[in-house]
Amino acid sequence: MNDEKKLCLSGSGVTKVFGLGRQKTVAVDHVDFNFYEGEVVSIVGESGSGKTTLAKMLLGLINTTEGEIYFQGEKRDISTHRKKQAYWKNVQAIFQDPFSSYNIFNKIDSVLLDCINMRGGRRLPRAQKVEMMTEACSFVNLKFEELTNKYPFELSGGQMQRLMIARIFLLKPRILLADEPTSMIDACSRATILGMLMKLVFETGMTLIFITHDIGLAYYVSDSIHIMEHGKLVESGSPDEVILHPKEAYTQRLINDVPKLHAEWDLTTV
Ligand SMILES: Nc1ncnc2c1ncn2[C@@H]1O[C@H](COP(=O)(O)OP(=O)(O)O)[C@@H](O)[C@H]1O
Ligand SMILES: [Mg+2]
Repeated sequence: MNDEKKLCLSGSGVTKVFGLGRQKTVAVDHVDFNFYEGEVVSIVGESGSGKTTLAKMLLGLINTTEGEIYFQGEKRDISTHRKKQAYWKNVQAIFQDPFSSYNIFNKIDSVLLDCINMRGGRRLPRAQKVEMMTEACSFVNLKFEELTNKYPFELSGGQMQRLMIARIFLLKPRILLADEPTSMIDACSRATILGMLMKLVFETGMTLIFITHDIGLAYYVSDSIHIMEHGKLVESGSPDEVILHPKEAYTQRLINDVPKLHAEWDLTTV
């Protein structure tokens, strides 16, 4: 069945070392992976296991120390500003901290206009741009007309993350990297935001690379799960393979950290 699936992002020997000599940290250590189009791929690991560093390399925000990243089967080339911009049309991200995701000098309408411009809509009539921004905001239950003169930091954390999803709605990338997108948000907004994210992913058929320390959540949303420990990908497979039949003691430990879910898993497997 794997033969029918199209590769969207893959890597071989991808490594990131921070610092030199005794100060050296191997944050990501020779990881190999194949992520397929249209799938929800979860990367799960404890804090400090290298998830964000891997995400930043996948996005091209930091260079790899070693190894190669392939986009749609071809070696990725982001060596110039223009090539990077082209890559970012296809690969976008939502980060953990909504406050640091926005330029504080940009009002909300210019945040959204930038997305339309990036998709080649710069010359569209203003009315059409407003219509597109209104549609994107209503997808995440925000009212565009109430936001036009505001700055992102005037919103709540949950609203800021919803605005991030509205950006993705307009940008329509092939791949979305979501790095713990709900971990800094209050519990009651969390499920709503996750629901909006999943709806967007399913409606557009984009690949979601979902980074989380919550293996229980990964079980419910993923097509494949990749377990990260000390910079290495130690175990990969379908949610049932990885969570119901873990091979690594580390994976078992992550599972044991969410004891409440065991009862529900039993129900789904009878
Ligand atoms: N810019 C940096 N400089 C030095 N060390 C870093 C830097 N970013 C991350 N690290 C280190 O790399 C390791 C992995 O970090 P990170 O990728 O943030 O893990 P995670 O997202 O899984 O919590 C940690 O030991 C962290 O301290
Ligand atoms: Mg992180």
